[in-house]
Amino acid sequence: MKIIVSLTDNRPEPWIEGLKAELPDAQIEPWQPGAAQADHAVVWVPPQQLLDEQPGLRGLFNIGAGVDALLKLKVPAHTRIVRLDDAGMSVQMAEYVCHTLIRHFREFDVYEADAREGRWSYRKPKLRRDFPVGIMGLGVLGERVAKAVAQFGFPVLGWSRSPKAIDGVKVFSGEAQFDEFLSSTRVLVNLLPLTEATRGILNRHTLGKLKPGGYLISIARGAHMVEDDLIPMLDAGQLAGATLDVFQVEPLPAEHPFWRHPKIVVTPHASARTLREESISQIAGKIRAMEQGLPVSGVVDPIRGY
Ligand code: NAP
Ligand code: GLV
Repeated sequence: MKIIVSLTDNRPEPWIEGLKAELPDAQIEPWQPGAAQADHAVVWVPPQQLLDEQPGLRGLFNIGAGVDALLKLKVPAHTRIVRLDDAGMSVQMAEYVCHTLIRHFREFDVYEADAREGRWSYRKPKLRRDFPVGIMGLGVLGERVAKAVAQFGFPVLGWSRSPKAIDGVKVFSGEAQFDEFLSSTRVLVNLLPLTEATRGILNRHTLGKLKPGGYLISIARGAHMVEDDLIPMLDAGQLAGATLDVFQVEPLPAEHPFWRHPKIVVTPHASARTLREESISQIAGKIRAMEQGLPVSGVVDPIRGY
């Protein structure tokens, strides 16, 4: 069995070494133009040339959860696209969302500003029931985040395409229940995949439906948000603040107004990083299963887009 590796922004060597340790009988090498036909590819945003030259690939293993960039390419119909299932990302997302939510709810940002001025002043306690948290996307990451937030006693709502039952979470589904979900939410967390149905879904109309004092945590993809809508809403007091991890253009240009806006916190697409060791072990397990004709989780439906 032959496996090729092509990782934009990542050195392939440590991945190749790790995969060789897991799959000692496989021939594993970095992809080069003109390489002989392989059985599987481990990729992050590969060039179209790789797919054109490798029509016999059985598995295309993405070293991330989101496959929007991969689905822009022309992938042979019989090649299965397989995403990372969690592999250590959901706990990172839970940390990020709980940290951001609690920092906002307990006003730790205000205490930090006071401390810089040597000012001893209390903030009035707020009630959790006044801060319902709505999570868009209840997949591998969203469900874990919803459960973590519920542990802190906040009301938790979720929105997905299909109906589902999650303990401690009020679930809304489909277009028909989207407005009710938004108008019941104060802190909105986006964990949807980027598809044609979700592009631009964070905009002045949808964000304008949140409860007063709405707060946005945008951690899935930059193209989910109509960026020009955000600052006017913050300046008009229609939103209380936003923490953004993903942007239309990454890296976010140094001159972008998001960096310096007092109600916006920016992080550099760091809410859930790919963890190499766990990811290699998961991908190797899936390749073994595929080779044995066993079912594999995380296979992407290219029509649905995730
Ligand atoms: P996932 O398991 O595929 O879950 C997607 C969820 O979104 C599902 O609950 C799905 O509903 C729902 N959904 C999809 N389309 C919808 C629509 N049109 N309306 C309503 N709900 C819809 O994805 P995941 O692993 O949780 O990851 C989510 C996204 O996070 C990824 O696609 C990626 O873009 C992003 N991400 C970002 C980072 C970062 O560092 N910033 C890291 C990892 C991932 P059903 O359950 O009904 O199918
Ligand atoms: C990162 O953004 C991922 O999709 O894994």
